[in-house]
Amino acid sequence: MIIRKAISYEYPILIENESRVFDSDIITKEDCRNFNTYVLDDEEGNILGHYISYIEENSSYLFTILINGSYRGKGFSNLLLEHYLTQESLNHTLHVNIDNYVAIHLYESYDFRQINIIRHFYENGEDAIFMRRENENNPEANLWRSRKF
Ligand SMILES: CC(C)(COP(=O)(O)OP(=O)(O)OC[C@H]1O[C@@H](n2cnc3c(N)ncnc32)[C@H](O)[C@@H]1OP(=O)(O)O)[C@@H](O)C(=O)NCCC(=O)NCCS
Repeated sequence: MIIRKAISYEYPILIENESRVFDSDIITKEDCRNFNTYVLDDEEGNILGHYISYIEENSSYLFTILINGSYRGKGFSNLLLEHYLTQESLNHTLHVNIDNYVAIHLYESYDFRQINIIRHFYENGEDAIFMRRENENNPEANLWRSRKF
C-alpha cells in the first residue's frame, strides 16, 4: 500500500468514484488541484481510495474521504485518515452527513467529537454534523475536554 499525491490526469477518476457514492457536493477538478489530494494505491497500482484536505485558519479540514466500493470494510480508511492526521495543525475538522453512521463511527474512533448539526449543509438539503479533533498541543484542547455538551 502506498499513499501519494494524486496526479492531475487521475482527477476525473476520483470525481467518478465520488459520483458513484454521493448525490450532491461532488468534488471538482479545481478542488483536486487546489487542495491536498492523496490516493491510496495497492501493489498493482489500483486506486483503493482517496482523501482531500486543506488548511483553514488553525484547522486542517477534511474535505472528503472515500474508499472504493469493493475495498470497503478492510480497514483501508484508517490508512488514509491516519495520513491526514499527520498534517500539523491545532485541530482537525470535517463535516459528515448526519446519516453516515459508518463515517461518524470511524471519526469518533479517532477522537473526533460532534460539535453541532448544520441543517441543509449539503446542496441536496441534507444535514451535516460538524466534527472536530483537538490536537494535544492545542491549549484550547483541555478547555474543550472539560466542557459538557
Ligand atoms: C467511510 C468510509 C471511508 C470508511 O471506509 P471503510 O473501508 O468502509 O471502513 P474500514 O473498513 O476502513 O473501517 C474503519 C472504521 O470504519 C467504521 N466502520 C466500517 N464499517 C462499518 C460499519 N459497517 N458499521 C459501523 N462502522 C463501520 C469502524 O469504525 C471501523 O473501525 P473498526 O474496524 O475499528 O470498527 C467508506 O465507507 C466510504 O468510502 N464511504 C463512502 C464515502 C463516505 O461516506 N465518506 C465519508 C464522507 S464524510
